[in-house]
Amino acid sequence: MTQSVAAVTWTIEDGIADIVIDNPPVNALGQAVRRGLCDAIDAAEAAQARGAVIHAAGRTFPAGADIREFGKPPLEPLLPDVCTRIERSDLLVVAALHGTALGGGLEVALGADYRIAVPTAKVGLPEVLIGVMPGAGGTQRLPRLIGVPPAIDVITTGRKLGADEALALGILDRVEEGAPRDIGMAYLRDLLAAGAPRRPVGAMPAPEPVDFDAAYDAALKKARGQLSPAQAVRGIQAACELPFDAGMARERALFRELMETDQREALIHAFFGERAVSNLPELRDVTARPVAQIGVIGGGTMGAGIATAALLAGLTVTVIERDDAAIQAAKERIARNLSGALKRGKIDQAQFDHLTGPALALDTGYAALAEADLVIEAVFEDMAVKTDVFQTLDAVCKPGAVLATNTSYLDINEIARATRRPEDVIGLHFFSPAHVMRLLEVVVADKTAPDVIATGFALGKRLGKVSVRAGVCDGFIGNRILMAYRTATDHMVLDGASPFEIDRVLRGFGFAMGPFQVSDLAGLDIGWATRKRLAPTRDPRERVPAYADKLCEAGHFGQKTGRGYYVYGDGGPVPNPDVERLITEERAVLGITPKTFSDVEILRRVLCAMVNEASRVVEEGIARCPRDVDMVFLTGYGFPRHRGGPMKWADLDGLPGVLADIERFAQDDAYFWQPAPMLAALVAEGRSFDDLNRAAAP
Ligand code: NAI
Repeated sequence: MTQSVAAVTWTIEDGIADIVIDNPPVNALGQAVRRGLCDAIDAAEAAQARGAVIHAAGRTFPAGADIREFGKPPLEPLLPDVCTRIERSDLLVVAALHGTALGGGLEVALGADYRIAVPTAKVGLPEVLIGVMPGAGGTQRLPRLIGVPPAIDVITTGRKLGADEALALGILDRVEEGAPRDIGMAYLRDLLAAGAPRRPVGAMPAPEPVDFDAAYDAALKKARGQLSPAQAVRGIQAACELPFDAGMARERALFRELMETDQREALIHAFFGERAVSNLPELRDVTARPVAQIGVIGGGTMGAGIATAALLAGLTVTVIERDDAAIQAAKERIARNLSGALKRGKIDQAQFDHLTGPALALDTGYAALAEADLVIEAVFEDMAVKTDVFQTLDAVCKPGAVLATNTSYLDINEIARATRRPEDVIGLHFFSPAHVMRLLEVVVADKTAPDVIATGFALGKRLGKVSVRAGVCDGFIGNRILMAYRTATDHMVLDGASPFEIDRVLRGFGFAMGPFQVSDLAGLDIGWATRKRLAPTRDPRERVPAYADKLCEAGHFGQKTGRGYYVYGDGGPVPNPDVERLITEERAVLGITPKTFSDVEILRRVLCAMVNEASRVVEEGIARCPRDVDMVFLTGYGFPRHRGGPMKWADLDGLPGVLADIERFAQDDAYFWQPAPMLAALVAEGRSFDDLNRAAAP
């Protein structure tokens, strides 16, 4: 007997039901799948089958709920009821997993009596990563099956587990090579032959509790204020304290609360934004140039990081440095980066030997780049040095080679003009450390050819980066906006706030580090050089702090010299007492009477400065849409993901309030706080940044 209801097919033979989920591409658990699973179980029971195997066609066991149903009225049957229906049937049910059995997929499998998987399968409950929590029994069944501490780890981190680890934890009962259907059937027959009992997880005894208040606090702290992992802890707590059905109801209530939060909306925005950002309509019919061999000019901090990222992605790399000593230093930097990857188990010793050996060449002569498909320049941030490098590249590189610069601020059009092939020149702006940070700004200059842009995005994808299209201006998307909000923090310091309280407030918002800690990490000399570079063209109305220059003049550049805004000793960083003194002296010279800034005021000034400058960046076409700005800040600047990025924050907070604050701040400093015309226009029209995102959608 074979039947099918849309996305689920079943065959009942010999008293065994073979139930196949078939809902491409990822077998998401939409309504048709849920209904089909219930119908299949009904049919198997009606046929008095003894057992059933649930498995999936295509590339994976269900990889989760159907996110498209989020925010819409729930459609019956609901997933928790489907899982319980499976669990309470008369059948002995085996789930046979392959691909990524995540979220609702794993919850369906937990409704089965036994679980088997292929060795490449991955399982997990990643719901907290999009701001919700398991809502179909995951928090009730997993702790019953494997105990509370490992369940807290799996659920609050949302991480994917390999089949071996899942087997060791007891999430899986068996791991075997083979087609999911075959291994599932064989396992079920073994179980039936051995007279194995049914084993409904929901009927297992309540697990041993832990100190749930401590676990809640730890989860909240670790996620820097993101609620979903902590809320999931309360779900697990219910598994210990309530009968199963009441625990399920409690889980549902906690899940529903999270569905209503701004954090959930922000995290979904981040999830889809990361995927949408590299989907450029202009590149739809454009083919990227093939890239196998990469050249990197300069093996300093960035060049070594870029070389590492390229090597890890399987590319052959040639690094050019100035002399033998610099070559040796570059080689050591790359080896250090790769040994980090070796230690974390990302590569094995043989790969390490290959990547530091045959895959990597270092040279002082540019002739070694004759065959390179793409070259990334990462020499000193100095226009004369860079144009010199590009003239040489123009002379030695083969026709069609992509010539990229990693400059942070310099004019890429000017760099392109140093060559006779400006159409091949592009900015590929990596973030430090380049083999770790996920952001890549693909900076498109006036003459950059479309297939060169496509090559930049293809490289970004190969390196596992989130690639964002940017236009040419001082600082592109990220650094330009960073300069604006750093200026807002500098102004607050002159007017009475301390760098340390500003750092504390921004950490409280969810940043890993405050802006002054970041400056110490990046090196205070960078900001100093920028201030000097911009001084000749600076508007006289602009307020620039001098105390930071005084730190630099005294040789204090932050972490690398052991002293900056903070002093870096053995006991960890502490505020540098000189900083308060220098600030007080400067206020006296400027005749400023310091005022007090509340935490809320500090936060709003920083965020409003970001949003205002970001509006200009979008209006000028430097970023394609507000969402692209958000992805830059989430993946390159440590903006808390559960806030969705500065533009999403502004949308959720309300653009009229943001504009009103900017106008209020302008009463003291009308030059810095000029409202961006686009922001004002959106408020006047009652529109949001998200409306612009929708308009820009491909
Ligand atoms: P760095 O000073 O660590 O490295 C520069 C390297 O280039 C040195 O090893 C130097 O020997 C080499 N070099 C200089 N001139 C050369 C030439 N003509 N030929 C071959 N090698 C040459 O500097 P860093 O921090 O790596 O910065 C490099 C570039 O990356 C700059 O344009 C910078 O603005 C940009 N950048 C820096 C970031 C950072 O966080 N440090 C982030 C993103 C971009």
